[in-house]
Amino acid sequence: MTRHVALAAGVLCSILSAAVLATPPTVSWKLFPEATGPAGASTGKAESQTGKAEFQNACAICHGAGPDRPGTSSLQFKYGGRLPALLEERTDLTAERVKYYIRHGIAMMPGFRKTELSDAQVEAIANYLARKR
Ligand code: HEC
Repeated sequence: MTRHVALAAGVLCSILSAAVLATPPTVSWKLFPEATGPAGASTGKAESQTGKAEFQNACAICHGAGPDRPGTSSLQFKYGGRLPALLEERTDLTAERVKYYIRHGIAMMPGFRKTELSDAQVEAIANYLARKR
């Protein structure tokens, strides 16, 4: 009897973990649910599209335009207009620096775990913000 229960629990666990593994990591909010780019796109324009979509999903809730975005307001205060408050308008950011802040956070900004943003998603966002313009 106990063996059957253990077996059933084992089977259930493998089904559940397969379901979890099949779902890509994501943040718990979605500001623009429709803004999901093509998965696994790797070069040029497609990559910057993916980075933009990932930025909309994970960052725009704080770094978008508007008065109620704490990231934008903090950066407005921090730089007093010397640099654009909107990350998407900055031309001084390097991908390395963006990746560091995403994983470690800064001041009120939380760091993102790998279960929230995968390395590929972080890479896409960093390349999008650091892209040459
Ligand atoms: C919960 C709100 C919040 C979210 C979500 C958030 N940020 Fe931030 N972020 C902030 C705040 C607030 C600051 C300003 C910290 C300070 O005053 O130094 C900041 C600062 C930054 C900075 C530093 C800029 C500078 O010049 O100091 C970068 C880069 C950054 N965020 C990138 C991101 C990216 C990329 C994402 C999405 C993966 C993201 N943030 C998501 C709130 C957020």
